[in-house]
Amino acid sequence: MRDGSAGDPNGNPTVYVTRQIPDAGLELLEESCDLHVWDGKLPPSKDHIIERLAELEADGLLCLLSDDVDGEIMDASPNLQVVSTFSVGYDHVDLDDAADRGIAVGHTPGVLSETTADFAWSLLMTTARRTVEGQEYVLDGEWETWGPKLLTGPDVHHATLGVIGLGNIGEAVARRAAGFEMEVLYSDVGPNEEAEADLEAAGVDVTYVDQNELLDRSDFVTLHVPLFESTHHLIGEAELRRMKEGAILINTSRGPIVDTGALDTALEEGWIERAGLDVTDPEPLPEDHEILRHCPEKLVVTPHIASASIGTRNQMATMAAENLLAGVAGEELPNSALEDRS
Ligand code: DGY
Repeated sequence: MRDGSAGDPNGNPTVYVTRQIPDAGLELLEESCDLHVWDGKLPPSKDHIIERLAELEADGLLCLLSDDVDGEIMDASPNLQVVSTFSVGYDHVDLDDAADRGIAVGHTPGVLSETTADFAWSLLMTTARRTVEGQEYVLDGEWETWGPKLLTGPDVHHATLGVIGLGNIGEAVARRAAGFEMEVLYSDVGPNEEAEADLEAAGVDVTYVDQNELLDRSDFVTLHVPLFESTHHLIGEAELRRMKEGAILINTSRGPIVDTGALDTALEEGWIERAGLDVTDPEPLPEDHEILRHCPEKLVVTPHIASASIGTRNQMATMAAENLLAGVAGEELPNSALEDRS
């Protein structure tokens, strides 16, 4: 069953999925649902989602972080009971609109924390030690000899790591710092004593500080906060000016946490040394965007792939399907964004 006609002779719930997610999720849905899947490489337009939900009179919608799901979409089908997103982040789903309509919202927390932490480290190491520039140097035929000053960068070991947001992913990133014998500073809305105790038990030297102190003292600043109104442009001009001149900023959370214009100036004027971004604002980042034109050598940008290990994406698909199935059955969701936001 793919993006075809409506109706299920067996009376199974009808669900619409806005992209081809891994088979683990689709197969689960296929077992007990009338399943319809958008087959395009790019996301369906909002109008198309509305049209499909309406003509299918769908009971459930499984969406991605690239779909903005608001009340207008939720109103398209009179039967809609659940929106399940294939992501831990739910900033693209209007939770107030869902709550007003009694529509459940599922997401995929926990399952991608370690994978995303691996990737944040990969971006940190790549950005600090100039791996991408090295590859380009070789491919451009510039490698003529070993160079005493060739592509030097800062040490990662024994440096100070600033983690903004010590939730599941921030904690997983901090835990990995023990192997590099780093000092870890973290800031958040308040101290996270449980995570601190776990990190200390894992041999991490971790201290809660306010964000200004973190920015003043860290050699690497890595962002792990969800996108809310309060975290929009959490890192703007003032924050970038506070960071150390040689500091490196890593963002694997959401693009709008960082003010892209301010980051562009910070890199151009040398307020900070480099940045590694897996998420951008705008996203996708056009190849001719000014931040890429101004100082490409100071940036490593990847296309929002921090959770993209095969195993994790399969687990995300399964979790998203399980949330959807619970929602269409009128049951409590295993992972409810409405509950987790509080
Ligand atoms: C999420 O799940 O929110 C990540 O950004 C993508 O996996």
